Amino acid sequence: MLISEQMNAKLNEQINFEQYSAHTYLGMAAALESMGLKILADYFFKHADEEREHAMKMIRYVLSVGGKVTMKTIDEPKGDWDSVESIAKQSLDHELEVTKRINELVALADQQRDYATRSFLQWYVDEQVEEVSSAEYLLTLVKAAGPQQMLGLEHRIAQMMG
Ligand SMILES: [Fe+2]
Ligand SMILES: [Fe+2]
Repeated sequence: MLISEQMNAKLNEQINFEQYSAHTYLGMAAALESMGLKILADYFFKHADEEREHAMKMIRYVLSVGGKVTMKTIDEPKGDWDSVESIAKQSLDHELEVTKRINELVALADQQRDYATRSFLQWYVDEQVEEVSSAEYLLTLVKAAGPQQMLGLEHRIAQMMG
């Protein structure tokens, strides 16, 4: 095995957290669709798919370095998804939390001189820059639109999604 037991355990934790992220975004997407906001819902459904890909990519890495992948229980997402603004805010908070966790993994890789894992993690570091930035942008748009303008906001999101 090319990685330490500790790194293996931490990567498993992150795999679980990416799955938890997918779970969270699925919940948010469903809440948005229930509000009649299908385009915003699609944006979050897509995000959930991406989170699952993040988990898959990490699973493949752990296996490729001879580590052991352990699937754990995925927590129930918590939060108040009564409004688009609170969903957008919680999505930003969530991405900031993920970024913190990725940074901790990077710090551990540095500390252990595990340059393979350090190199692998760079993709996640870069991805988090994008994810935090798009979550911040969405929150700004939601706040600027206000609760009365959600359909107009959907139009804007549809354009962004191409
Ligand atoms: Fe992710
Ligand atoms: Fe994410």
